[in-house]
Amino acid sequence: YDGLGRLPIFNPDDEGERTPPEAAALIEAVTAADGVIISCPEYAHGVPGGLKNALDWLVSRDAAVAKPAMLVHASPRSLYARAALSEIMRTMSFVLFEETALEIVLIGKKPPEMEAILTTAEDRLAMRAAVQGFATSIRGRT
Ligand SMILES: Cc1cc2nc3c(=O)[nH]c(=O)nc-3n(C[C@H](O)[C@H](O)[C@H](O)COP(=O)(O)O)c2cc1C
Repeated sequence: YDGLGRLPIFNPDDEGERTPPEAAALIEAVTAADGVIISCPEYAHGVPGGLKNALDWLVSRDAAVAKPAMLVHASPRSLYARAALSEIMRTMSFVLFEETALEIVLIGKKPPEMEAILTTAEDRLAMRAAVQGFATSIRGRT
């Protein structure tokens, strides 16, 4: 999903028939998805505002209810954002998949260095195992 920057700021007065088309598209995409994978940075010990705004558009409807979700991290820090995001998503009734904690450390790396890290056999295996574990858990629920 690449529309975080186009979403209007959430306003509960703009729900129902007044839901903006960008928010409606996000809600439809999450509703249609088998699961959601979120990877985000931490800003000032918090969840980035753009991501929180997107989640807020999903709160008072069914899109997130019982929706499998997995968090992946590109920083070994970001512990506040992880804890906050888990709490927010559990409150929204996402089902967090936490059996595979995928953390690949890319902080401070330039794109070519990231490319080199992400293509090592070890990291490819870790990513594949995490996504397969998530997919298997989703299949097991249906
Ligand atoms: C304004 C700002 C605030 C940040 N605050 C934190 C923080 O509180 N904790 C943390 O672990 N990382 C913090 N970071 C680092 C980011 O979470 C992230 O790891 C870093 O921006 C690298 O991500 P990028 O390669 O996508 O830019 C901050 C970065 C920025 C730009």
